[in-house]
Order: sequence, then structure tokens, then C-alpha cells
Amino acid sequence: MTAEKRWHASSASLVLIASLLLSPAALADARRQTPSHPPGAAIASAHALATEAGMQMLREGGNAFDAAVATSAALSVVEPISSGLGGGGFFLLHDAKTGKDVFVDARETAPAAATPAEYLLENGEFNRDRAENGPWSAGIPGLPAAFVHLADKYGKLPLKTTLAPAIKLAREGFPIYARLVRGYASRRAVMERYPGTRAVFLASGAPLKEGEIFKQPDLANTLETLAAKGFDGFYRGDIADKLLAGVKAEGGRWTAQELAGYRVREREPVSVEYRGWRIVTAPPPSSGGIALAEMLQILEGWDLSKLDPAHRIHLVVESMRRAFRDRTFYLGDPDFVKIPAATLTSPGYAAGLRATIHPQKATPSDLLSGEETPLEDDETTHFSIIDADGNRVAATQTVNLTFGSGLIPPGTGVLLNDEMDDFALKPGTPNAFGVMGYDANAPKPGKRMLSSMTPTFMESPDRVAVLGTPGGSRIITMVLLGVLGYDAGLDAQAVAALPRYHHQWMPDRIQAETGAIAPQVAAELKAMGHGLDLPADEAAGGRGSSHVWGNLQTVLWDRKAGTLSTGSDPRNPVGRGEVMRMGTAAAK
Ligand code: DON
Repeated sequence: MTAEKRWHASSASLVLIASLLLSPAALADARRQTPSHPPGAAIASAHALATEAGMQMLREGGNAFDAAVATSAALSVVEPISSGLGGGGFFLLHDAKTGKDVFVDARETAPAAATPAEYLLENGEFNRDRAENGPWSAGIPGLPAAFVHLADKYGKLPLKTTLAPAIKLAREGFPIYARLVRGYASRRAVMERYPGTRAVFLASGAPLKEGEIFKQPDLANTLETLAAKGFDGFYRGDIADKLLAGVKAEGGRWTAQELAGYRVREREPVSVEYRGWRIVTAPPPSSGGIALAEMLQILEGWDLSKLDPAHRIHLVVESMRRAFRDRTFYLGDPDFVKIPAATLTSPGYAAGLRATIHPQKATPSDLLSGEETPLEDDETTHFSIIDADGNRVAATQTVNLTFGSGLIPPGTGVLLNDEMDDFALKPGTPNAFGVMGYDANAPKPGKRMLSSMTPTFMESPDRVAVLGTPGGSRIITMVLLGVLGYDAGLDAQAVAALPRYHHQWMPDRIQAETGAIAPQVAAELKAMGHGLDLPADEAAGGRGSSHVWGNLQTVLWDRKAGTLSTGSDPRNPVGRGEVMRMGTAAAK
């Protein structure tokens, strides 16, 4: 049975009906009565070696937060296409002992030199090359500071232990897989501009081939310095000097104070009740949580399981359209702009938006004004962890586009991000993901660029899920579909496999993966006035989007059944979920 059919089949599920009838107070009661300890631990990540690094920490007596550092650092080594020490990320934590959720924001910050004027060509047009490639595209990295923060405040093991698997992978190497070969081919022209990058990726004289062992000795040394010296090992001293020199040699401008002044921020997550679930998710500077809260509360007005696919997709798309419109105008770094978060996440506001949705007709995005632009598909990575004490981590980390800026400052092994493109560098000009912004997301010294990364927890009396994915602006809609999938009773693997569709206000078109929208449903959606980007449209002159997208990694604890399971996106063959029971690890 396809996931789509199962969604329908699950509509009569007692779980769903029971959760509908629960008031928030009853939910809290039920939560207290259900077991607080999972029957083991589970990790799902985009690479088997990174999942194993986390598992190793759990076997050595570490908790979910130690496992998160090990998994995150290992991903930084084995998935340089997606994330790394030169980038940033968000770590959503649940501390089982206190019951508290906290959001560790390790997003990159803007260097002071990176004013909007620096991203304009002489003719006033947007300098896309500067925004996406090389030193000006890079923000001050946040991920190393996150490791130190997690180890100091939440972990049980020292960084020397939690970074050890990553150091070994960097020093001894790992086998190159197909996605790295493809990604390198697509970014080669940029990466080969820089001597520091050539020294790493062309060490053998030619681009790496699938199956070859890729060693990163400089990165191993940088990780070792971080393990030995903590924050100062990366942000001050020898490594910092090399980062500054490498940026300067390519014409960029970072200062020693900016590196030494980098700080992670702890923020209160966004939380929202949805049909008996408590959803805990990413606050600004992510746009994901506020958008998710808006969409879910708009959708709460209907029982989606009772609708035919075309009407269900129509309403979900209309909720996406409205949330992305608000993203464009209101969201940015909360340390710099006042965000009307309470309003945007309130049920009353959602009810107002819901009232503007016609049950049978698409609302043209033009009525809300804007521009149309194409999208690209790139990288980033997510992992999900639950440990045997019930601690949880949902972490999404990134260098932004494929292999980030392409620039490795010589001698560091650190591939810098190109996260500056996530700012509204030129107001109203769409970025690589086709999303745009204005003042709220304008670059300022030390400011964090708006993100779509949406690490998320879901909790009902019966089930606890941790989920997230890469995918640029599509992250938000993938997490929405994942939440709706869990609510409809799907299991973890079915949630990871769910076919995907997306709408982001502008461009005013539904994009869909191959097979996600059946021809008959597409015809009905068109009749309602929706524009569609379907693979089949390509022949008819549409832009099409014949690729699949996302790399969703999720773990599920079924409290009632007393089981743990994982869902690892089938679109990514090297991803892996593992469940550990009483000292044994079972891959799933
Ligand atoms: O923070 C963000 O929203 C983006 N830099 C994430 C980039 C991404 O997911 C690329 N992926 N496919």
C-alpha cells in the first residue's frame, strides 16, 4: 500500500479520534501517565558512519547530547557537501530530567564588512556570484561553538571522546559515495578557484571517484585542536589565524574580533498544539517554526483525513502560501528585529487566514504581491536522536548550497559556508531557494541570516517523534507533511518516504516530486486555479521539477507499544537509522 493510500486508510484510526477529543489538560495528564523511558535509544542520520559515531557515544555511557556532538562532527567529515565546521546549525534539545525543551542556535553571523552594497555589481544588479561563492558568501561559523556548548552544558563526555570518531574518519578516510561525486562535479568550477580547496579535493591530482578513500588530515588536526582547547581552539589562535588569512587571501574581510566574539544563543522553541499533539519546533532566526505553527493552526479547521486528495492538497497548499508570505515580510534575527511571533503563532490569526481560503479555488499569490523565480536544490543535513532516558535531539546543520562557498582556507580543512545568501542581500530579490525578504532579514554586523531549517519534536500521549530534513525553503513544507503523516498514523519509515509537494507563495506554483500528485488530482487542482510544476509538465513547456528532494531523518518512540523505530529517507542510500536495545544495535 502506498503511503498516500495508507494516509486515507488511517483516517478512521482510533488514535486520531482519541487525540482529537483530548483537551490540553487531558493531554498533560495522559503524558504524565505514559512511560517516561523508551526501551532503548535510536538515531537516524544521513550517513551510516555518523549514526554509528553517535551510537558509540551511547555505548560509552554518553547521553543523547554527547551522541549529537559525535554524529554532528562525523557528518561534518563524511558529508562535507552538506554541513561542517565552517557552517552552522540548530539543535533542538529535550532534557528528560527537567522536561524542558531548548533551542541551541548556532547559526552563522554576518561579518561587519558584508554590507548590502558589497553584493551589487557596478550596474546595480545583484552579484549572485559573491552571494553564493567564495569569501563574501560566508558567515562566521557557528557549529564548532555548538559542540563546545553542548559538551559543557548538556553532555556527560568530554569533547576529546565525542570528537574522536570524527577525527578518526578525517584522518583515516571514508569511501566516497555517488552523491559526493555528483556534487563535486556540479561545484567543481568554483571549488577549483581556491588553492586551499584544491589541496583537499584534488590531493591525488584528480577529482575523487566513487569508492576511493577520502582523507582530510587538516580537518583532523582542526578537530583535535577543538577537542583539546575548546572554543579557543577554533575561534582564537592558530586555526583562527589561518581562517582569517584564507578569507583575506581571496579578497574577503573577516576580523579576529568577529571570530572570537561568536556566541551560540539559547532560545525558547516555538510550540503549538495540533489535534492532540504538542509540536515543539524552531524559533527565529529560523522561519520554520512560525511557518509550521501558522500552517498547522490554519489546517486544524478541517479534518484532512476526510477530504479527497485534491481538496486536501489544495488546503495544505493554501496554508503554505500564507505562511510563506509572512516569512517574506516579518521574519529575521530576533536579536535585531521585532518579530510579531505571538500574533503569527496565535490561533486567532490562523483563523483569520483560514477565512481567506476558498474551499474550491486557489488564491492567486499576486493578490498578496511579489515576484516569481526558479528554485535550486542543494544540500544540508538533519539527524534525530532519542536516548534510553528519553532525552531527545533534533538537529539540522548546513553550509547552505552544495559544498558551501567552495572555499577552504589553507591548512584548516574547514570548508566555509555560503550562508550569506540566506539574507535578503538585495531587498525583494529571491535567493537560491527563490525566497526573498526585506528589512527584517537585511544583513547587519553580527546578525543571523533567516533560515528554513526546522528541527521538530512531536509528542502525544501515545507517541513521541523527532524529525527534520534538508531542502532549503522546502524544509518547512516537508516537516509539515511529516507532521501530518504522523498525525494520520503513519510509521517512521512511511513518514520519511512520503511523496512531497511544496508551495512558497512565490513562485505561485505547486511543485511536486515525481508521482506525488496523480494526473487526475493534478487536473482537479488545475481546475481550482493552481499552477503546477510537475515532471510531466516539462513536455508541455512547464518548468518541471523531475527530481525528488529532501533527506528526512526521523525517530519514533511509540510509548503505548513500548517500541522505538527510525525512518531514514529512501531518497538517500547512505542514510541509516539504528535502534539500540539493551546494548544491542539493530539497523533499520
Ligand atoms: O538555513 C537554510 O534555510 C538554508 N541555508 C538551508 C539550505 C539547505 O537546506 C540546502 N538544501 N537542500
